[in-house]
Amino acid sequence: MNKKIIIAIDGYSSSGKSTLAKAISKKLKYKYIDTGAMYRCIALFAIRKKIFDSHFYNTKNFIPVLKEINLKLKWNKKYNQTDIFLNGENIQDKIRSEKVSNKVSLIAQIPEIREKLTIMQRNIGKNKGIVIDGRDIGNHVFPRSELKIFMKGSIEIRSYRRYQELKKRGNEISYEKVKKNIIYRDMMDISRDISPLKKSTDSIEIDNTFLNIEEQLNLIFKLINKKITTSLS
Ligand code: C5P
Repeated sequence: MNKKIIIAIDGYSSSGKSTLAKAISKKLKYKYIDTGAMYRCIALFAIRKKIFDSHFYNTKNFIPVLKEINLKLKWNKKYNQTDIFLNGENIQDKIRSEKVSNKVSLIAQIPEIREKLTIMQRNIGKNKGIVIDGRDIGNHVFPRSELKIFMKGSIEIRSYRRYQELKKRGNEISYEKVKKNIIYRDMMDISRDISPLKKSTDSIEIDNTFLNIEEQLNLIFKLINKKITTSLS
């Protein structure tokens, strides 16, 4: 049997990380961990707690209520996805809203939150055999993962893909608004002090501006086969 590895996929917002990660997890029968969904879940909780409603809000005030959060991930075999539960409620469909997308990067800057989620992610991945996507996986969460991919693409193509995805889910949002949110999140993710989005020196960069899914998968499975066979020796 092949040795199980950790595949870390980092990259810019809407650069196609989850599409690739899902395809890989299906093929290798690996667990897929969408760390962005975990940050989104906490952002949803903060919105419900109305922490952004005051003009004088300070995200630090949110820390004492963090202990009220019970976050659980459950593998959903039928849809080949990890369902995410916030205090027992499946919030999978609620975390992609515009409101959550607009606030999540503020939440992702809080060190206590990053620490809490990093511990959870490392725990889920301790037996390997996972594909995990996010912003800080290769540099921080699993710096020794066997395969690290860094995804990028032009802002226009990323915004367009995201816009199409949201439209498909029935969200009424304009392309311009989607693009603005992606530019904002990129800026927040690369400029934050703790675990910013940064290509690690040992990751393989994929710019998919001009690559379709099939081409990306061909490329990635070549890399995976090489890694699985070399980590056997
Ligand atoms: O991947 P997704 O776009 O759903 O992530 C939502 C947000 O969560 C990102 O814009 C980023 O601010 C934050 N995030 C992060 N670190 C991760 C994953 C996501 O800071 N590992």
